[in-house]
Amino acid sequence: MEVEDFLDQIMLRIKDWLDINSSDKVSPGESPSEVRRSVRLPPPLQGEGLQGVLQGVDEFLRHSVKTHHPHFMNPLWGGFSPAAFAGEVISALAQTSMYTYELAPLASQIESAIITRMREMVGFATGTGVLTSGGSNGNLIGVLCARQKQQPSTLNLGINGGDYAVYVSEASHYSLRMVVNVLGIGYDNLVIVGCDKAGRMRPQRLLEEIDISIREGKIPLCIIATSGTTVTGAFDSLVEISEIAHSNDIWLHVDAAWGGAALFSSRYSHLMDGVELADSICWDAHKMMGIPLVCSVFIIKNEPLLRQVCSHGKVAHYLLHPQTEALDLGNISLQCGRRNDSLKLWLAWKEKGDAGWGRMVEEYVGLADYLQSLVEDHPRLEMMSSRVWSNVCFRYSPCGLTEHSNEMYELNEMNELNIQIRDELNLGGSFMVSRSTIGESVVLRAVICNPAVSTESLEKFVAEVVSLGDEIISRREVDDY
Ligand SMILES: Cc1ncc(COP(=O)(O)O)c(C=O)c1O
Repeated sequence: MEVEDFLDQIMLRIKDWLDINSSDKVSPGESPSEVRRSVRLPPPLQGEGLQGVLQGVDEFLRHSVKTHHPHFMNPLWGGFSPAAFAGEVISALAQTSMYTYELAPLASQIESAIITRMREMVGFATGTGVLTSGGSNGNLIGVLCARQKQQPSTLNLGINGGDYAVYVSEASHYSLRMVVNVLGIGYDNLVIVGCDKAGRMRPQRLLEEIDISIREGKIPLCIIATSGTTVTGAFDSLVEISEIAHSNDIWLHVDAAWGGAALFSSRYSHLMDGVELADSICWDAHKMMGIPLVCSVFIIKNEPLLRQVCSHGKVAHYLLHPQTEALDLGNISLQCGRRNDSLKLWLAWKEKGDAGWGRMVEEYVGLADYLQSLVEDHPRLEMMSSRVWSNVCFRYSPCGLTEHSNEMYELNEMNELNIQIRDELNLGGSFMVSRSTIGESVVLRAVICNPAVSTESLEKFVAEVVSLGDEIISRREVDDY
């Protein structure tokens, strides 16, 4: 098969994939063994040519989740952006690696321009940044920079983890456990600070925890505040937390992987008031901004510090040279070969502009408000958290409000019921939302960050949850009888 025909065939499949019919399932809902039975997974010994490749593409798409389906509300990302898709394909076509200006002349400048713009939006008058492989790694670099600031000798001598304390809220992302593990600080030195009812870190508790660590002889290294928590979408009070960080001389890193896009909207940017007082921040463009995975930004006020942290590149005489030090992004990255993730963001930004991103954020939160109203208006549904962002955490509750439902349905039974509702939604392929736990209660978490989601899909979703819940209850009653 000629390359040109092959590319035409790929284009046909792309268009077909994007064309969603009302009868299309969002997920194939297959078991692992069903998938294994229908796809030959081990790579062949003899090549099958481009025709075999097309067959592989067809198989792959047939067994994949449709993340651009209007019923896809599971993770903190989703949807299809034609502009960013073009950027993804063109990046692969150009095969750019971001370590040197020599190999990435325009790409390096695009990345720097994006970092400058996002740094200005965050309100850092100085500084730099780099695209990373995700918010998890952005958090890692933030704490690594905190370590470099507090204890520069650790760069050469390594670290005795037990000497330090890192503070996160109980609603923070699990990647922070990875961070203290990788940095040799250890889980035991990750101090978990309690949250208020709205899921925000309690500043007073933070102060108390810092006091306890100091009395235990530990050095407070870094506070990580969250702008947009994973489950409920809460925003920590950055003004209060930064006061504590500054008065105790502790690095403040803001995990805005999920909530960073609030800065585009005049209606929601107040949620991040005080972010300019932080030392570093990570912000995932592959989440609410809808850029294909991965596209994530780490920004820091103190550029020389990031350069010190990445000074391992100084021995790479075959790659990074002093003459181009200021231009080569390999000097501010933990990676060596690195994808060009900035092109897709740059192209999507070209399409939308700041104003378009702002409208998008407001539309998503508006749709989440609508879903909340549908939940609140239904006698057998119950909101499970307060909300300011586009996460909607709720559950099916047979007798309506919690205090009544507890009389008839023990917590375990209620949890099992909601687990079953979600499993059946998934297996039936009708909707995809995630399952989480708030306190001891299982909740269904729908997240709006997919441009295909509409009021109509939300109405259908609520009707489907209620109908499944009712059906499971009546099935159980028949079984009990
Ligand atoms: C608050 C928060 N921080 C960090 C992350 C990790 O981001 P990534 O998946 O890009 O590594 C997530 C992921 O959902 C998140 O919700």
